[in-house]
Amino acid sequence: MKKLKVGLIGLGQRGRGLLNNILHNSDQAEMAALCDLFPERIQAAVEKVEKSGQPTPMQTSDYMEVVNAGLDAIIVATSWDMHVAVCLAAMKAGVTVAIEVGGTHNIQDCWKLVDCYEETGTPFMFLENCCYNDDELLVTSLVRNGMLGNISYCQGSYCHDLRYEIAGGIDTHHYRLEEYKKHNCENYPTHELGPIAKILHINSGNRFTKLVSMSSKAQGMHEYILKQPKYADRLGDVTFAQGDVTTTMIECENGETILLKLDTTLPRLYERGVTVSGTKGFYCQTTRSVILDSKEYDEGLHGYEKAFGNQDEYKEYLPEEWRVITQEQIDAGHGGMDYVMLKEFFRCVAEKRPMPIDIYDAAAWMSVTALSETSIANGSVPVECPDFTRGKYKTRKTVDVLTLPVVQREKE
Ligand SMILES: NC(=O)c1ccc[n+]([C@@H]2O[C@H](COP(=O)([O-])OP(=O)(O)OC[C@H]3O[C@@H](n4cnc5c(N)ncnc54)[C@H](O)[C@@H]3O)[C@@H](O)[C@H]2O)c1
Repeated sequence: MKKLKVGLIGLGQRGRGLLNNILHNSDQAEMAALCDLFPERIQAAVEKVEKSGQPTPMQTSDYMEVVNAGLDAIIVATSWDMHVAVCLAAMKAGVTVAIEVGGTHNIQDCWKLVDCYEETGTPFMFLENCCYNDDELLVTSLVRNGMLGNISYCQGSYCHDLRYEIAGGIDTHHYRLEEYKKHNCENYPTHELGPIAKILHINSGNRFTKLVSMSSKAQGMHEYILKQPKYADRLGDVTFAQGDVTTTMIECENGETILLKLDTTLPRLYERGVTVSGTKGFYCQTTRSVILDSKEYDEGLHGYEKAFGNQDEYKEYLPEEWRVITQEQIDAGHGGMDYVMLKEFFRCVAEKRPMPIDIYDAAAWMSVTALSETSIANGSVPVECPDFTRGKYKTRKTVDVLTLPVVQREKE
């Protein structure tokens, strides 16, 4: 197979992680162009590429040079505010483009993405790696195999203590610092919402209809900064707009509801906590448990605890990719999901197959940030979710991100 020539725009924390994974997929892709605003980030990335044995890539601080370089695909890992501009430029130039996760503060951005895609037909992929993670694929597969019955409710969160990253932005230029000063919203919905939206067939017979969002007061960052000699002088006077915990409820046309939680400025465990509740069963990522109604559990409050940690008993529901993954591929980043996702993305580019997470998914998921900001700013009022497919969701048939097995299990 001909190797794809790939450009990477944005060489911060995530760009560096993606670079590792692209180099791990060197049978599929060559790292042909690198772009960032900081020359030292470009230099470090170039050295990594050369060390891996690949030719020295093109280097630039102007993303338009990457767009116009005649590449097979471009990956965008910039700060959130640049995703849409770079993506539109790439689509207009006819270059397959994949963008990193993050929301948008502007609904018009989502419409611009959809309109540009429909005008140009340029392949687009939203790089939501959690859709490729083993837990999320396991529960999707359990749902597709009917194990959990009809789904009524899903929940998920982005709980990640990012105080060091946000405050550290004053030295690293990380965009979250400015974001948290200016905005109060569900700013990072897609890690949990992406897999949930896929489970619920959003944009494929179902859609988000409305949401309501609420934020707690903002105090975590301020208290943290005052305790850090490194930041207290420089950031002690800053007022943060972003509430410590933001909760968002989304209603779907087919009657399911979704609860999202963003919790990034208080001390806490990392947790995505995907939970899926159906008429025959329940999945909980935090306790790694699958609870089936058909199984006997002791009566009482704690009977179901027998299921804690039992999800490994359901490994045959995982897609092939997660049964053959090597330790090296797992270690390449985020426990293997980055490797699995990029492999699939490159396969779709090479074989000109439809992208598993497309522009309509991106628009629906990213728009939650803007809609939640509107809801919170107006006293947590319900806000209508736009239908970015303009009615096509009623008949669209989309596929799961990977082929999921059909499992024949004895009736449990
Ligand atoms: N999928 C994941 O697991 C995951 C994890 C972390 C971050 N991310 C996403 O990755 C993206 C980047 O996050 P990060 O933490 O690496 O941020 P970062 O600030 O560390 O890196 C962003 C980089 O983009 C560069 N950049 C900004 N504007 C640019 C432009 N116009 N042209 C070229 N380069 C430009 C910056 O110089 C910086 O080096 C975000 O969308 C974030 O949500 C995803």
